[in-house]
Amino acid sequence: MDLVGQLKAAGVVPVIVIEDVAQAAPLARALVKGGLKVLEITFRTAAAAESIARIRAEVPEAVVGAGTLLTPHQVRAAHAAGAAFGVAPGLDPAAYGAARELGLPFVPGVATASELSQALSAGFTLVKFFPAEAAGGAKMIKNLLGAFRSTGVKFMPTGGVNAENLGDYLAIPEVVAAGGTWIVPKKALAEGDWAAIERLAADAAAHAAR
Ligand code: 3PG
Repeated sequence: MDLVGQLKAAGVVPVIVIEDVAQAAPLARALVKGGLKVLEITFRTAAAAESIARIRAEVPEAVVGAGTLLTPHQVRAAHAAGAAFGVAPGLDPAAYGAARELGLPFVPGVATASELSQALSAGFTLVKFFPAEAAGGAKMIKNLLGAFRSTGVKFMPTGGVNAENLGDYLAIPEVVAAGGTWIVPKKALAEGDWAAIERLAADAAAHAAR
C-alpha cells in the first residue's frame, strides 16, 4: 500500500516526541495495539533516529515515519534509520530535495494558499497542513479546497488537533489523516503508562473509523 493508502487506513497519526530510546518499542506496541499503525517520530530530540530504528526492528507491524525534518542532514538520518516516510512543518526545497534523492516519501507542510500552490508546483499532492488550528482549522482546509480541489490535493492536518476537533477534520474527504501529540501525552510517556496510551490510541482509532 502506498503512503496515502496507509494514512487513510490509519486516519490518525500519533506525533511522538521521545527522549528515551528504551521507550520506543513499548510505546509503538501500545499504539499499534490501540489500533494506530502509522507513527511519526519527530526529530526534536536526540533519540529520534535510534527510536525509529528500534521500532523498525522490534515492532514490524508499525509504519514508522520521521517528523519535523528541517534539514537535508535530518532527512538523511531519518532515511538511514529506516523511516518509511518523512514529514516537515514547512516547504523547504533543500529538505524535500534530499528526500527525493533518497526516494523517501515526503510530506511538506503548508499553511497558506501560496505555499500550497508552491507545493503543487513542486509535485506534491499530499501536504501537511500546519499549524492546523492556529492557521484556520478545518474551515481553512475547506476554503483552500474551494480553490484547489481540482488539483487532487490531500491534506494531513497537525498542530492543535485533539480528540474534540478530530471529527471536524476527518469529515473532510480530502483529509487522509490527522496527526497530533495528544495521543502520547508527556506525562503518560514519562511514566511508561502504556495502558493509558493504548486507550487514547483506541479512542482516536474509533473516531477515525470512517
Ligand atoms: C506537529 O509537528 O505535527 C505538531 O507540532 C503537533 O502539534 P500538537 O502538539 O498540537 O499535536
